[in-house]
Amino acid sequence: MKGIVESGKKVVTAKSAGFCFGVKRAVDTVYEEVEKGGPIFTYGPVIHNESVISDLEKKGVRIIHSVEDLEGLKEGTVILRSHGVSRQEEEAIRATGLKVVDTTCPFVKRIHNTVARESEKGRQIVIIGAADHPEVEGIRGWSQTPAAVIATEEEAENFSCPRDREICVVSQTTFNAIKFEKLVAILRQNGYTIICVNTICNATHERQTEAQEIAAHADIMIVIGGKTSSNSAKLYEICRERCPKTFFIQTREDLDLELDGTEKVIGITAGASTPKRIIEEVQSKCQNKLLNKC
Ligand code: F3S
Repeated sequence: MKGIVESGKKVVTAKSAGFCFGVKRAVDTVYEEVEKGGPIFTYGPVIHNESVISDLEKKGVRIIHSVEDLEGLKEGTVILRSHGVSRQEEEAIRATGLKVVDTTCPFVKRIHNTVARESEKGRQIVIIGAADHPEVEGIRGWSQTPAAVIATEEEAENFSCPRDREICVVSQTTFNAIKFEKLVAILRQNGYTIICVNTICNATHERQTEAQEIAAHADIMIVIGGKTSSNSAKLYEICRERCPKTFFIQTREDLDLELDGTEKVIGITAGASTPKRIIEEVQSKCQNKLLNKC
C-alpha cells in the first residue's frame, strides 16, 4: 500500500477488534477438534456469529442444548464453550463417557473457583449480572448454597440476607464497571459485610477505549458486527460520537464507501463475534478505495 503511505493516507484497524482471547481460544479449539475427526458437539453455540456457525455446521459440528441431547451416543467430543457451565452440567456431561474438551475462559473459571470456595466457607454469593445470561447461569451453579443475582439498583436495594452472614460479590465478566461499583455501594450502605471480587474482564473495555481513540482521529469509521450484537451497537454509538461518518456493517458487501479524496484516515473496529477474515476483507476494501483516491 505504498501509495497510501506516501500520501499520508491510512487505514487503522483496532488491535482489539473482533474476538476476545477467550472466544478465539474456544473457536480455534472447535476447528482443531474437527480436524481430529469424529462427531463434534458444542454445548450451546460457541459464538454468536452466523457465518462461523454455518461453517461449523457444514463441517458436521452439531449444537446441543441439554445433556439429554447426548443420550444414547456412544462416541463423540463435547466442547464446553467460553461462557462455562454449571458444576452439575459439567458432571452430567462427563458422566456420559464422551470426550469432553473444556474451553471455559480462564477468567470465567476463576469466578467458578471463587464462588465454589467462598460458598463452601458459608458466605452468601451475590452475582452482579443478567440472571438469564448463560455465563451467569453457569457461575450460579458453582455455589454450594443458592446464589443471588442482581442487575439493577432496585434489586440491590431489595436484596436481603442475615446481616451476620458475610457476602461474596462477583460479577459477570462483561458487566459495566461503573454500574458494578454502584450496586456494590448500595449493598454496603445497607449494612452488609462484603468481600468484593471484581471479575469484570478488560476485553470489552479495551475494545471500547481503542475504538474511541481511533474514531477521534478518523475521517471515516467502520464498525463491523452482527445486527443483534449489543456490544457492536455500543461500539457504533461510541464511535459516532467522535466521528460523524461512522458506518455499521456486517460484512464487506454492506460497505458502500463514497470518498471525495480529502479523507486521510479510515478507522476500523469490530464487535466481539466478528471473525478475523471479515475484518481483513473490510480492511483491504478500504485500502483499495483510499489508494484509488491517492
Ligand atoms: Fe472474552 Fe474471557 Fe473476557 S471470554 S470477554 S476474554 S472473560
